[in-house]
Amino acid sequence: MKKRNLSIIICLLAGQTFAQSLPQLGKDKVKDVIAAMTLEEKVNMVMGLGNATWSNPKDGKPTVIVPGAAGCTYDIPRLGIPSTVMADGPAGLRIVAEPNNAQGTRYCTAFPTATAMASTWNTDLEEQVGKAMGNEVLEYGCDVLLAPALNIQRNPLNGRNFEYFSEDPVVAGKMAAALVRGIQSEGVGTSIKHFAANNQETNRGSINEVISQRALREIYLRGFEIAVKESDPWTVMSSYNRINGFHSAENYDLLTTVLRKEWGFKGMVTTDWTSGTDWVNQMHAGNDMIMPGEQKQAEELLKAVKDGRLDEKVLDENISRILEYIMRTPRFKDYHYSNKPNLKENALTALHAAEEGMVLLKNDNNALPFKKVKEVALFGKTSYHFIAGGTGSGEVNYYHAVSLQEGLENAKYKLAIPLKNYYTNIIDSILGANTDAQKEFGGNKKFAIDRMSEIGLSENLIRTCAKKTDIAVITLGRTTGEGSDRKENDYFVLSDAERSMIQQVCDAYHAAKKKVVVVLNIGGAIETESWKNYPDAILLAWQTGQEGGNAVAHILSGKVAPSGKTAQTFPVKYADVPSSKTFPGEPSDNPINSFYTDGIYVGYRYYDSFNVKPSYEFGYGLSYTTFKYSDLKLSSTTFNGKMDVTITVTNTGKVAGKEVVQLYFSAPQNTIEKPVQELRGFAKTRLLKPNESQTLTFTLDGRALASYWSGISSWVADAGKYEVKVGSSSRNIRATASFNLDKSMVIEKDHYALQPDRHVKEISVKM
Ligand code: BGC
Repeated sequence: MKKRNLSIIICLLAGQTFAQSLPQLGKDKVKDVIAAMTLEEKVNMVMGLGNATWSNPKDGKPTVIVPGAAGCTYDIPRLGIPSTVMADGPAGLRIVAEPNNAQGTRYCTAFPTATAMASTWNTDLEEQVGKAMGNEVLEYGCDVLLAPALNIQRNPLNGRNFEYFSEDPVVAGKMAAALVRGIQSEGVGTSIKHFAANNQETNRGSINEVISQRALREIYLRGFEIAVKESDPWTVMSSYNRINGFHSAENYDLLTTVLRKEWGFKGMVTTDWTSGTDWVNQMHAGNDMIMPGEQKQAEELLKAVKDGRLDEKVLDENISRILEYIMRTPRFKDYHYSNKPNLKENALTALHAAEEGMVLLKNDNNALPFKKVKEVALFGKTSYHFIAGGTGSGEVNYYHAVSLQEGLENAKYKLAIPLKNYYTNIIDSILGANTDAQKEFGGNKKFAIDRMSEIGLSENLIRTCAKKTDIAVITLGRTTGEGSDRKENDYFVLSDAERSMIQQVCDAYHAAKKKVVVVLNIGGAIETESWKNYPDAILLAWQTGQEGGNAVAHILSGKVAPSGKTAQTFPVKYADVPSSKTFPGEPSDNPINSFYTDGIYVGYRYYDSFNVKPSYEFGYGLSYTTFKYSDLKLSSTTFNGKMDVTITVTNTGKVAGKEVVQLYFSAPQNTIEKPVQELRGFAKTRLLKPNESQTLTFTLDGRALASYWSGISSWVADAGKYEVKVGSSSRNIRATASFNLDKSMVIEKDHYALQPDRHVKEISVKM
């Protein structure tokens, strides 16, 4: 007995000595930890463990640390390397709500989608939303939120526009940076995605986006550049698509030359989930981790090292960035998560964010806020089933999304009961039973309602409502999602049923001298020109997250004055969109190449330069109050490397409100063609009471003056007169000033990179 005990002690001691002699992550140098890895461990280390779907090579079992998370990283316990957890996505944490284990029910907060957040133009608020998301990531045991997504909203039919911020890279970059700062302030990481030019879902894994170097630098990379430089995201996710011939994950120019050498990114790059085809080249390009990871990929990398196609040093370098990332994570720091994030507080943050992102598009004769309204007739299926966000990895498992019906009832309005019963009976029959509508959308009840056609109404019901109620509110809804783009006719324009609902309700209510409000619960721009004259007011609520109905009710009632502005143009018709002829690529039935013939002329840059009148312009939004702009001052009349612009904004109306102030530059058109104006900065005032003022300051550097000259791979500021325009929208400039640049200046010299692999003929104002 004694002898056996002794041998156990000896064995234990030997084991301890062996473990101690091995380098440990966090205690020893990263390079020593890497040197202690076997080649097999190294190839596994650059491969993810795709949660439930892929097996851990160590035991052949799937690694599930947090159910519903998108993936994990590989662990090597003997070297002190834990597995870390990555979860989606941009509108809140996406994990399985009811994991069916001891950890209990884990619902997450659905925040307004990125498009709605961009409409707040409030980076402080976006940072708060980030903090709230970060709190849920941390307390539910995850290490990285796979967000924000900041591709450019180049075309309104892109299925993922709701996950993206804007058509403008400055808005996208600044909002993304704010979200990253907020999330990471909680000690968890982010993954800015999808780097880059993932502007369509059609054939997203293979499509070759053919884009000029200038358009890439000024439009499609610029937001990422701002986010990297202003927020230091822990990770970047390369995109599925090709850019000028190469898959993003296999693109050395993109991931190493531009991202790391030029912008100074120090973090880890992962692929998007199953992207690209050449894993060896992914390693060479500086794509450190292949997600979600597959055994065949590990085998291929192992073979490549053995037959000399992949230098082990390349693997070591990628692993060193992975280990640096792991050392930052809560899991490495052995954080004991509670499974109890501040859901109540976070719901309030989601509510305020939703309120502030709402854009008042029309308000004839001050139809809003409600005056003497007691009973409301609520039309449209979406009024009773609000859309919190889109589908796919950007979806959140929230507990409940507040509908407009509930929001108005919470705000103590009476609703027209026959109308409510009519809609809710139909909706309940779909939600309750396994109907055809449900089957069509994969049994997903939520989307069955969102995507089914509008419910028809009898004239009699409308007439009775017009007689009995004080006002009509109609909600139109749209859902889109990952994996497919939409069509002009099934998404962008109104359906016949929607159109006749608007017409019939407006006719009946106007005949009764009562007003009609349309609420848009949508994820991206739709056609508004042909019907916007009918209702008295239009509120663009966007996809509002879980608190949508309450937020809309607060705006309708006047508890909160709207202060959102569009961060994308609403064109008169789809054919006006500069990419409408080339989206989603050629050949049109199964695109291989997508030619970006619109070049730098994306969104307002196009509409303003080519004199195409939009239905609602970029940066547009009304309030319940009015604002005066005064005292525009520049710190100097000539540019010496830096310029301060100040402007005073005064609330001249009768209620408190916030104003979004936009700063545009018109650069001299000497040498190369430029858009007539470009957004160079923005700010939002605090809540100003009537007569209260605030002075805002914008600090601009040389890049604000510069355009990208592809021939010399440089950002160049042309000599001449620069007009500074401060506006309440892109087409409502409220104050102007100018300054001179005496000599043209090369502001920054970059590498020659990312040249198109085939000719792309861009549009020009000179054509
Ligand atoms: C999406 C990413 C997402 C990933 C993991 C991909 O299909 O494009 O945005 O983060 O899946 O779920």
